[in-house]
Amino acid sequence: MERTAECGKLTKSDVGRKASLMGWVHRRRDLGGLIFIDLRDRSGLVQLLFSPEQSAYAQARELNREDVIYAHGTVIARTPENINPKLPTGEIEVRVEDLKILNRAKTPPFAIDVVDAAQEAQEVVRLEYRYLDLRRPELQKNFALRHRVFLDIRNFLSERGFYEIETPMLTKSTPEGARDYLVPSRTFPGKFFALPQSPQLFKQLLMIAGFEKYFQIARCFRDEDLRADRQPEFTQLDLEMSFVFDERPITELVEELISFLFEKHVGVRPERPFPKLSYADAMDRYGSDKPDLRFGLELIDLSHALAGSGFRIFTETLKGGGVIKGLVLPGGAKYSRSQLAELEKQAQALGAKGLLWAKFTDQGIESPIAKFLNAQIVTQLQQMTHARANDLLLMIAGERQTTNTALGALRLELARREALIPKDHWKFCWVVDFPLFQWDGEEKRLVSEHHPFTSPKASDLELLEGEPLKVRANAYDFVLNGVELGGGSIRIHNRALQQKIFDLLGLTRAEAEAKFGFFLRALEYGAPPHGGIALGLDRLIMLMAGANSIRDVITFPKTNTAYCPLTGAPVEVSEKQLRELGIRVTQGD
Ligand code: AMO
Repeated sequence: MERTAECGKLTKSDVGRKASLMGWVHRRRDLGGLIFIDLRDRSGLVQLLFSPEQSAYAQARELNREDVIYAHGTVIARTPENINPKLPTGEIEVRVEDLKILNRAKTPPFAIDVVDAAQEAQEVVRLEYRYLDLRRPELQKNFALRHRVFLDIRNFLSERGFYEIETPMLTKSTPEGARDYLVPSRTFPGKFFALPQSPQLFKQLLMIAGFEKYFQIARCFRDEDLRADRQPEFTQLDLEMSFVFDERPITELVEELISFLFEKHVGVRPERPFPKLSYADAMDRYGSDKPDLRFGLELIDLSHALAGSGFRIFTETLKGGGVIKGLVLPGGAKYSRSQLAELEKQAQALGAKGLLWAKFTDQGIESPIAKFLNAQIVTQLQQMTHARANDLLLMIAGERQTTNTALGALRLELARREALIPKDHWKFCWVVDFPLFQWDGEEKRLVSEHHPFTSPKASDLELLEGEPLKVRANAYDFVLNGVELGGGSIRIHNRALQQKIFDLLGLTRAEAEAKFGFFLRALEYGAPPHGGIALGLDRLIMLMAGANSIRDVITFPKTNTAYCPLTGAPVEVSEKQLRELGIRVTQGD
């Protein structure tokens, strides 16, 4: 038995030829004495035909979904009325002369041949039988794309002088803002390796080691809250270059790579250069550091127009240094009070104190605070927001950051509700000029906005001591359609500055030495100026494939509780293993 053809590749030009196929029974139909089988392999589907006079007919009647078979026969043209234009092999079928059952399949727990049925099956069941889920042609396509994109990335970077270099998995914590996955050491009982949250420090060490241009398709591990675009283990395209002083060489390289990939695999040519927005602008206009630029609904600062309204909340907010901001939903006057109350709840869940609304009408304005909005204010609001009759203005008053974030989330929610996000639009952008630090109110200390190895802008260096929150970073995030695809920075390559950043982050000298001493030392031996970026490849493939979740482009993903329904991991281990590791489990004690 030898396979001589692939199901999905047979065409009219094969008519009259013999073909030996192997694959899975996708679907069986018994019609007017004839049996039709859709046979599926990796390449696609082809219809097999069995008529009663053929010796294989009796066997074909026994076939069930997902049985694995060998079928040998002749490729014949379908009669015109039987042509299926939806199937690439729809003009032909194979009349089977010899059939062998290679293996039987139990009835699968969900249908593989019906897209909706499979998608509606409970996700845990799909993940428990992931090998069946992966047989679905939609998922097969995603992994074929993933393979081709990875191959192209490797070739692209290799042609530009990058070396693909691996870095350790069993290592020490590299902080990227999540919890570490820890691995206990047998040889050093009571001590632990951390799985890398990213190869950040190792790639910097590779620059110090003189490799100049590095990349890696790197697996990263982060114990954090999971969402549709987050998995505990995921894959980055991690890269780093020496002798770069600003973002330009990195952003240009990424733009070139991304344009090449989108042109080749998605069939769109992104407009270049990709727009750059400052972090402050992105927050002010879109209420997000990963703005979705496919639609408008920009946030507008109404503080000036509403300053004299006399409405107490507005007056007090402005007195306290806050802002009043709003966004206009065209045609939104149709929103009922209960719908508006629902939106207010959402805004409150995001930290806003409340949500005020005003509906523009032909006569003026309708709003619970209408009496504070005199004709002059209404005209001013209209001028600022370009609102017209039937439009809805939503307003939040409060501290700037909270107000922006809440309105930003509302902006996305309204765009989804009103279907304002055009399909097949690709809006790339860079977000730059991030602050170097954020204030962690709980821990009462500065924390890095990206990671502690990001360099401050040279022009902001003198602010480090007195006003660290005003220092901007040499960092850049890469965003597509509201998804953060990547982040990178120009690094600190000077020991004294790196030490200073650790000091500002509240690390004692002893802590810095214990955690990062090896790295601080490396900076003393001729570290070149360097910088880089990491792109989330699962997210990239998800967007390129038009998938809704990165789980659709990861072979064996985990659930939202970081559980693997297929293997049952994580699992308890034997007493013996624990003893060897010097570990005692106290849970349940
Ligand atoms: P950062 O933490 O921004 O940067 O990560 C880079 C990109 O990786 C993707 N990503 C994830 N994808 C899936 N699941 C997750 N849990 C997850 N977390 C992150 C995102 C993100 O933009 N060392 C730096 C890079 C650098 O400075 O060069 C880093 O890891 O797409």
